[in-house]
Amino acid sequence: MKFGTRSLSCALVLSSILDSASSFVQQHRAFQARRFSLSALSDKSSESVPQNDTLSSTIGRTVFEENNVSSLLTQAASESILAIDPSTIEVIPFSKLSEEGAVLGGAYSGNNFEAERKSSRFDFVNMFRGSANYIANHRNTIIVFHIPGELLSWDGFGDLMDDIALCWLLGMKPVIIAGCRAQVNHRIGLENCDISSLSAEGKLIECDEGTYSYDSVRITDEETLRIVQEEAGFVRFEIERQLGRSLHRHGMIDDSAIRDGNVVSGNFYSAQPYGILEGVDFRFTGFPRKVETEKVKQVLDAHDVVLMTSLGASPSGEIFNVSTEHLTSYVAGALKASKVVFFTVMGSAFMENKNNKLVQNLRVSDARNVLKYNNVTINMSKGFSSFDEAKVPSSATKEALGKLGWCVSSLDRGVKRAHIISPINGALLQELYTRDGSGTLISRDIYEGIRVANVGDVAGIFELIEPLVSAGTLVPRPKNVLENDISSYYVFTRDNLIVACAQIKIFEMGYAEIGCLVVMKEYRAQGRGDAMLGYLERLSVQVGCTNVFVLSTQTMQWFQERGFKEVPLDALPPTRKEAYNTSRKSKIYMKTITDERELDSSELWWNR
Ligand SMILES: CC(C)(COP(=O)(O)OP(=O)(O)OC[C@H]1O[C@@H](n2cnc3c(N)ncnc32)[C@H](O)[C@@H]1OP(=O)(O)O)[C@@H](O)C(=O)NCCC(=O)NCCS
Repeated sequence: MKFGTRSLSCALVLSSILDSASSFVQQHRAFQARRFSLSALSDKSSESVPQNDTLSSTIGRTVFEENNVSSLLTQAASESILAIDPSTIEVIPFSKLSEEGAVLGGAYSGNNFEAERKSSRFDFVNMFRGSANYIANHRNTIIVFHIPGELLSWDGFGDLMDDIALCWLLGMKPVIIAGCRAQVNHRIGLENCDISSLSAEGKLIECDEGTYSYDSVRITDEETLRIVQEEAGFVRFEIERQLGRSLHRHGMIDDSAIRDGNVVSGNFYSAQPYGILEGVDFRFTGFPRKVETEKVKQVLDAHDVVLMTSLGASPSGEIFNVSTEHLTSYVAGALKASKVVFFTVMGSAFMENKNNKLVQNLRVSDARNVLKYNNVTINMSKGFSSFDEAKVPSSATKEALGKLGWCVSSLDRGVKRAHIISPINGALLQELYTRDGSGTLISRDIYEGIRVANVGDVAGIFELIEPLVSAGTLVPRPKNVLENDISSYYVFTRDNLIVACAQIKIFEMGYAEIGCLVVMKEYRAQGRGDAMLGYLERLSVQVGCTNVFVLSTQTMQWFQERGFKEVPLDALPPTRKEAYNTSRKSKIYMKTITDERELDSSELWWNR
């Protein structure tokens, strides 16, 4: 397993930058709140106080309590003791700092002040600016975290709680599903077992596709249930304690009062029993039956964090032990969460072995293929994963593929994006708030329905573009020309109807032109233009063309809003420059794409 040191240090830098920025934001808000109360005091005193009144009697007639008065007086006294002698403050030109190597906040004592200041400022500024899009995008969205019990004994756990609180401070609505499998295994002496060997000796369970496999489900008898209750309680209180502290640290301002968030747990879902499968009675092992989505949303809207554990009660009051991976996918789907995050315990990554490239982004269809290739099955109704021991022998691979399976099942239930993150300090923030990310993102197949065109599509494309050709928006493309160039066209079909088309032409020196982008009138403003453009941009990058350009007479704004910038004719590759039709006077817009991760971040906007 390889995790680049750059990625690790980047995660830590981001984590600490966002952390200190958050305490700055919090202090600033606290300051504003205090200023608000002081100005309320002075407003009220100037309105209602006769000249000869003392401060304390004035306050006695206002809404302020006596203890506020004493704290204000104490503060005034300490301010005079701590005050700076004004004669020691001198105004100097900024340039003098570099000559004299001034001390910056007591931290700097070197000579190259300007260079050091610039570099640390730009590290921060660039990172913060780069995160702004993500902060804006994630605000007010529901994120469901799966926290395996093992993470509680990880030394980065406190920081992870801080980072979740930071996501909350930045406007996300977190729901936490906490597992306690490790704690229960420890209690019953099964620490070293694979999850697939936890059930009663080799009992078989039918999987979704009618195949049989060893199950990965614990049979919960009365004794085990009692242990699960104890351990789930322990995990719950630990998270409440540690996350509660973090939420308190990041207290939020609401209607000018500083307000902490709470961790709220309760009966947010009901469960039902597995029952008897293949003659095996699973006793108190259950699976989710219904999520109280409205109650969860009420708690989230009140700026609190929801916490659920593996214990779910039936309406008749029985308690069942539920797999928390399954619960996470189920709850995230029921809440139509924007994101779901699974943490691995053993820390693994997916690697494309033909080029040793880390896989940071998988379309759900690709993720499904990976699972199929490795014979991994996820039973979405009862909630268990099955592995082919021959294909997936190691626990770490099993864990990563299992999480991948639960990500896919979350997306199948309507979640937009799923992330698998390793237990690396700061990795969560890096994954959520930076372009580079740190884990594996699995996203919905927004390009489903797009394919390369064939001669059978010529008539459909012709019909689609004809009105725009007549209006002069597009250059004419007779049917024989379309037929000749058909392999450079892509179509977006729905029920065999071509609803959008576009062409991509590859030029020398890493340039590609996107043209003839048309969406059928009835299908416009539903994200199809964006999907077509995104697909062709990805295609360009894959064939090594990082400079993508378009020629437009009518749609300049649309491309500008998608990161294209106007460039002069000279910016075109020579062969395209030669073929430029000067009479049309089309404007040229170009975008330089450095990697696919950049496209992922722009996709966030149109696939919200
Ligand atoms: C431009 C076009 C491809 C966009 O397709 P789409 O599926 O409607 O695009 P999206 O759903 O991704 O985006 C819709 C947004 O683009 C805006 N938009 C559409 N045409 C636009 C134009 N000419 N200029 C600026 N914005 C435009 C819409 O108002 C909408 O904005 P909103 O999200 O704020 O409501 C489509 O409008 C079209 O086929 N236009 C005619 C053909 C054309 O001009 N092609 C470009 C020549 S290469």
